[in-house]
Amino acid sequence: MDTMRWENGMLVLLDQTKLPGMVEYIHCRDYETVAEAIRSLRVRGAPAIGAAAAYGLVLGVLTAEAKNREELLARAREVADVLASTRPTAVNLAWALNRLLARLEASMATEPEELTELLINEAHAIYREDLEGNKRIGQFGQELIPHGARILTHCNAGALATAGYGTALGVIRAAHEAGKQVSVYADETRPLLQGARLTTWELIQDNIPVTLITDNMAAYLMARGMVDLVVVGADRIAANGDVANKIGTYGLAVLAREHGLPFYVAAPLSTIDLSLASGEDIPIEERKPEEVTHLAGIPVAPPGVKVWNPAFDVTPARLVTAIITDQGVARPPYGESLAGLVRGNGVV
Ligand code: MRU
Repeated sequence: MDTMRWENGMLVLLDQTKLPGMVEYIHCRDYETVAEAIRSLRVRGAPAIGAAAAYGLVLGVLTAEAKNREELLARAREVADVLASTRPTAVNLAWALNRLLARLEASMATEPEELTELLINEAHAIYREDLEGNKRIGQFGQELIPHGARILTHCNAGALATAGYGTALGVIRAAHEAGKQVSVYADETRPLLQGARLTTWELIQDNIPVTLITDNMAAYLMARGMVDLVVVGADRIAANGDVANKIGTYGLAVLAREHGLPFYVAAPLSTIDLSLASGEDIPIEERKPEEVTHLAGIPVAPPGVKVWNPAFDVTPARLVTAIITDQGVARPPYGESLAGLVRGNGVV
């Protein structure tokens, strides 16, 4: 099942807010619909929102019918600003939009049709490279997974969160495909239940054994010796290896350290932000209170109660055993190993 596809000049998105109950696609004909879909998590997960935003920028340019290069560039920058503002934490969003803008600016083409074609090709490249990169993450990562491993994961870092195959779930899929007989514990991931709704759904389709737990069960699971390692995705990784990911990830990393378990992060290089020295500088999205006070539209808290709802947290690099990227596995000290991978010099 495709997370997204480009079809007849439209972006067709699987509406993840409806899963697992309904498989419904939305047809985006303009960039405003794409922006709304990203804001409301119809499409979500760092690499997926990067690719969706890239196609959103294409739609913004297609619908404007600019008369010349200057008009088209102005429109592209305006649309990119709107799309970039939809979700602040995952750097893949700004990364994808900047890549498209840079492609436009570097081109000598003057005809709007030609420039639009360039944009479409670049959006396709982002999508394709993400899918290929996830397969490589899977291959690098599965080498770290022992036969019969019982793996805990959080949120959804699967095919749904990417162009396909997934990052953390890509590692699990590759281990499964290698015949390692792995099994998975999926945290439900409050408040929006990406683990319960999406991760279990994906794994069941692939016949990978999965057991759903609520977030507050992870400590006891580890204390009982029922899990061998943790693997999660990332929304942004700072230059020193601090990792922003779905709220609750930090707690799992602390627990893994206490119980002597490896804690792996799987992410493409597009998630690494060398411009930020540490996780302290990563903007953390805060979302509306209703996500906490309501479950599937039903109130579970007194009306008007004060709520704090950060969507992500930051795991300090010292708790991360390794970062599995599409170009290799980075180990501490991350300041050196991540910079080496991003600059194309391999793992230091
Ligand atoms: O709020 P979401 O559902 O977009 O959060 C997603 C996550 O935190 C994922 O773990 C992360 O984006 C990595 S996806 C490969």
